[in-house]
Amino acid sequence: MGLVEQVQESNRIVQHFKPGGSTAVPSNVAYRLKKIQKLGILKGKWLDCGCADGGYTVALVDAGAESAVGVDVVEERIQQAKEREKDHPAVKFFHLTNDDLPFPDASFDGVMMNEVLEHVTDEVHTLREILRVLRPGGHLVIMSPNRWFPFEGHGMHIGERVFEFPIPILPWLPSKIGQQFMFARNYWPSEMRDLVNRVGFSVWKVDFVWPIFEVWPWLPQPVIHQYRKILPVIERTPFVRRFGVSVFLVAQKR
Ligand SMILES: C[S@@+](CC[C@H](N)C(=O)[O-])C[C@H]1O[C@@H](n2cnc3c(N)ncnc32)[C@H](O)[C@@H]1O
Repeated sequence: MGLVEQVQESNRIVQHFKPGGSTAVPSNVAYRLKKIQKLGILKGKWLDCGCADGGYTVALVDAGAESAVGVDVVEERIQQAKEREKDHPAVKFFHLTNDDLPFPDASFDGVMMNEVLEHVTDEVHTLREILRVLRPGGHLVIMSPNRWFPFEGHGMHIGERVFEFPIPILPWLPSKIGQQFMFARNYWPSEMRDLVNRVGFSVWKVDFVWPIFEVWPWLPQPVIHQYRKILPVIERTPFVRRFGVSVFLVAQKR
């Protein structure tokens, strides 16, 4: 059995995870897009896989891509996203009826998955589809929950009982235990790197994104303000930097 098949055989193919909601609040979009922009890869045609209401799709074009296509498996989200098309002619949205991407091989210069990989039914299938629709040399950017971050941001369930707030320590429990209570996957940075490499990409950067706390309004505003000011220092500090909320991985199609 090959490595990819081993990953598929494991418990990482799921049928019951929640699809997850839009994370496209303005400060988060600006912070994350700047990270991608700095890499100098935002050119040509991009795919926003799992675009929800399309906030990041539009931002891809604003940040340098010539055009962008957003796709999502939830039809209502695509209907919302389509509202943006009239003001943004370089952006188009399509509803996916299954996990295949309805595009020819080598259609895109770049693909972004922002907080999506942890929700898909079959990680390997989705990544293989992305590999197929990328042109050789094209880039994949993934941001997905980091297991070093000590809170599970999707909440948790114990049987039928649902807890919709960040749960401390859950990401640090052994996977076999933690996954029984979780609504989405999470990744050690090395685990995500191995997965993406195995599918056939070359991973060239594994970094972290930190929370912006725009959607945690109960935190005191002066604390958030100070935190954002020192964020660039936190992001550069050895050891500490790994505790970011999500892994930020950049890979290339060989
Ligand atoms: C947490 S939301 C993130 C949405 C958006 N990227 C953002 O950051 O605002 C995850 C999205 O992925 C979508 N999704 C789940 N599985 C998918 C798949 N196989 N292909 C495309 N989208 C998928 C969900 O419907 C949901 O809108």
